Parts: sequence; C-alpha cells; structure tokens
Amino acid sequence: MIILAIETSCDETAISVVQAEGDLTRPRFKVLAHQVSSQVALHAPFGGVVPNIAKREHLKNLPIVLDQALAEAKLTHEEAVKIIDAIAVTVGPGLEPALWTGIEFAKKLAEEWQKPLIPTNHLEGHIISVLAPNLDTGCPSGHPVSIKFPAVALIISGGHTELVLVKKLGEYERVGSTRDDAVGEAFDKVARLLGLPYPGGASVSKLAKEARDTNLTSDWHLPRPMLHSPDLNFSFSGLKTAVRYGIEKHGTMSELDKQTLAREFEDAVIEVLTAKTLKAIEAYEAKSLIIGGGVIANQTLRDAFTKLTSNFPSPTSPLPLLIPDFKLSTDNATMIAMASYIRYLKNEVIPPDQVLNTTITANGNLALK
Ligand code: KG4
Ligand code: ZN
Repeated sequence: MIILAIETSCDETAISVVQAEGDLTRPRFKVLAHQVSSQVALHAPFGGVVPNIAKREHLKNLPIVLDQALAEAKLTHEEAVKIIDAIAVTVGPGLEPALWTGIEFAKKLAEEWQKPLIPTNHLEGHIISVLAPNLDTGCPSGHPVSIKFPAVALIISGGHTELVLVKKLGEYERVGSTRDDAVGEAFDKVARLLGLPYPGGASVSKLAKEARDTNLTSDWHLPRPMLHSPDLNFSFSGLKTAVRYGIEKHGTMSELDKQTLAREFEDAVIEVLTAKTLKAIEAYEAKSLIIGGGVIANQTLRDAFTKLTSNFPSPTSPLPLLIPDFKLSTDNATMIAMASYIRYLKNEVIPPDQVLNTTITANGNLALK
C-alpha cells in the first residue's frame, strides 16, 4: 500500500509518501517522497520553539510541502488521489497547537480524497525509523535491518528523553523518561548560558570536542542526576542549574573555561544516558538497542554507545546497535508513514466515511502502547 504521512508535532512541517508491504514480523518500506521544511531559524531568536509561531508556519507550509512531496513522488494531484491508499498523521506527543494543524489538514485531505486516516504516535515513528531504507542510495525495500526482540529504544531529542521496551513491532512499554527537561533541551539551555545561539546542542558538543582534543582538564564538577536511582528515569534540569551556578560563581568565562565546562556537561549527560540504558538492557534482557532523535548526532554519545554495545554482553557477541541515518533521526514524516503501517496492520484505521465525524485529539503527552 502507499501511505501519505503528515508530521507537525514540533517545528518541522514534514510530508512523506512511502510504499509499505509485508506483515508485522517483516514490514518493508520504499520511500517515494521525503520532504521536511524546518522552522528552526524562525524560532532561534526566542531560544526555543514558540508554539503559536509553529502553528502559523505549519498552516502556511503544509500545502506547499504537500505539492513538493507529490512532485518528488512524480505524482500529479489526480494520480495521487488514485494511487495513495491512506493518509497518516501524527496525533502526539508534541506541541498541541502544532499537532492540530497536521490533524486538520490530514482530515480534510482524507475526506477530499476519500481515503482512510491513520492516527499515529510520533514516538513509534522514532523507533521504527531504523527500518527505513537509505534515503540517499535509495536502497530498495526488501533489505531491511532486522530488530532483535525484545529491544530497548532510547529516544533523545529536544522534546523527548524516553526509554521504551519494544516487545515486538507494535507492542511497546515506556520504562523510563525524563522528569523535567529533555536531553536536547538541556543542551540548548546550556548553549544559551554559554552565549551560543539556539539550537545549541551541536555548538556545545563542538566546544567539548575542543577540550577533548587538547586534553584540557578542569575543576568543573557537575552532578550526574539520578545516576544511582533504582528506576530508569532521568532528570536534566538540575544539571542545567548547576551549570548556571557554576558560571555565576566563576565569573568571566574564557574560551578555555567554556570548552572545559561544555566537556564536563557532555560527560555528565553521557554517563547518565549510557548507565540508565544499560540498566534497561539488563533488566529486560534486551537483544538489541535502538537510538533515535536529533541528539544522537552527538559523536561522543555515539562513540559511547558503540563502545557499550560492542562489549555487552561480551566482545564476542556484541549487542546490535540500530541508529537511523541522521535525516531520519530528526523529525520527519517517513517515520510516521512507517509507524502508521504498523497501526494499519493492527486495524487501527478510520474508514473514509467516518473521518469527519470521528474525534481525533491532539495529545501532547500521548502514551506509547
Ligand atoms: O530530533 P530533533 O531534531 O528535534 C526535536 O527536538 O524533535 O532534535 C533537536 C535537538 C536539539 O535540542 C539540538 O540541540 C540537539 O537535538 N542536538 C544535539 C546535537 N545536534 C543536535 N545535541 C547534542 N549534540 C549534538 N551534536
Ligand atoms: Zn521527535
């Protein structure tokens, strides 16, 4: 079947067209169109995503991105109506004003084209993104990586920090999450304290790398929040506050001070993320590890997880580590199309004649089941 998926949960307006086949044990995907329009530059002056600006921009961008996606799939409007089998849309978690724009747009399209509608969970998208074919090489479907179950998935982005037990495709249990800030949010807040523009995760990690490359040591000592807590939860807001107090106490920060502080911050985050993930892997006897979300762009974090999995449970039988291509780590609609196919296989579809009178709610805290 061919699915057109819409994603507007945060600050990217994204539409993809994906061909899906196979069953729940071996779904296969081919990406016909992958369009993402980022609003990051518009939110930058505010130091974070402003929900009402996101909403306004999604409303403006959705029809444009739809045209771009159809053009990429080489479909005229008439052909699209003929060959597309279903419309999928992210219904949560995310920013509710932003989610609503996608839901309304998807409902209208499903009604106009008389297609079924598949409400989809954004986090299921991040997990299943590891099954996508390579977008650049266009590597055809039929060669998917396989996930060994049960798997543990770590989702780390500006909006999420979640540990999910993936029993099999379509069956999930959230086993840990942040009590306050998301990891990416903590990186962005620390970037701001260091005078760097939003989103600053990559800049903080660049500073940290400079300290590492020159082997700079320092007296900064930041906490490792909840490192030894018996659960699988995280907390990053205290870490950001410790950075703020550290800077206030220190006074004027030289470039070297900034580099060493960035390094200590990154070390603290990585130590907590790897320790809690390992704890989850051990607790649930996971057979593979999935990591999704924009923060996995961080090379030191990638190296830490590569090292962890290559030695666990032993160097001779390392744990498979599945990380999507960067384009699929950050928010996109290809992952939403793929996740919606799982929902389709589980019969969670709204038929065309019921689309308009079915209540579909944008749920900022939608749970993953
Ligand atoms: O998944 P994503 O593109 O957007 C959502 O939040 O949904 O993730 C963006 C987040 C931002 O907070 C950004 O600062 C962070 O990922 N990020 C990084 C790096 N690159 C992006 N954090 C740490 N190190 C990086 N290299
Ligand atoms: Zn996301």
